[in-house]
Amino acid sequence: MDYKEIVEKALEAREKAYCPYSNFKVGAAVLFEDGKIYTGCNIENASFGGTNCAERTAIFKGVYEGNREIKAIAVVGDTSTYTYPCGICRQVIAEFVVDTSIPVIIIKNANDYLVKTFDEILPGIFSKKDLNG
Ligand code: THU
Repeated sequence: MDYKEIVEKALEAREKAYCPYSNFKVGAAVLFEDGKIYTGCNIENASFGGTNCAERTAIFKGVYEGNREIKAIAVVGDTSTYTYPCGICRQVIAEFVVDTSIPVIIIKNANDYLVKTFDEILPGIFSKKDLNG
């Protein structure tokens, strides 16, 4: 797949970040089975545990619209380094992954990003298959 559009959407989404506590802006873009890319930013809270990561904002928007399968996910942080999805977001991605080799695009900037597979960043997932047999 061509990553240009999903990378651009993650970068745009980062501008929407609500992060008055960390000042660390994060953007995410998620391609679902309906063929659409859903975007999200981090949304922080004065009670810090109430914070929602960019990835989960984007995933929950797509799932709310009826999607159940993530086909690709891109994330960009605020620094000069690569920002990977946190552990909680990896588990939330696992819930909506059918093919565990989907691309996870870890963006530094529009011209510099890493493409990993979901398997690589979260091997041996625990998911609904473990509960339902
Ligand atoms: N954050 C994300 O949005 N995604 C990640 O994968 C890592 C962390 C946010 C949460 C919080 O608003 C800020 O980055 C600092 O942790």
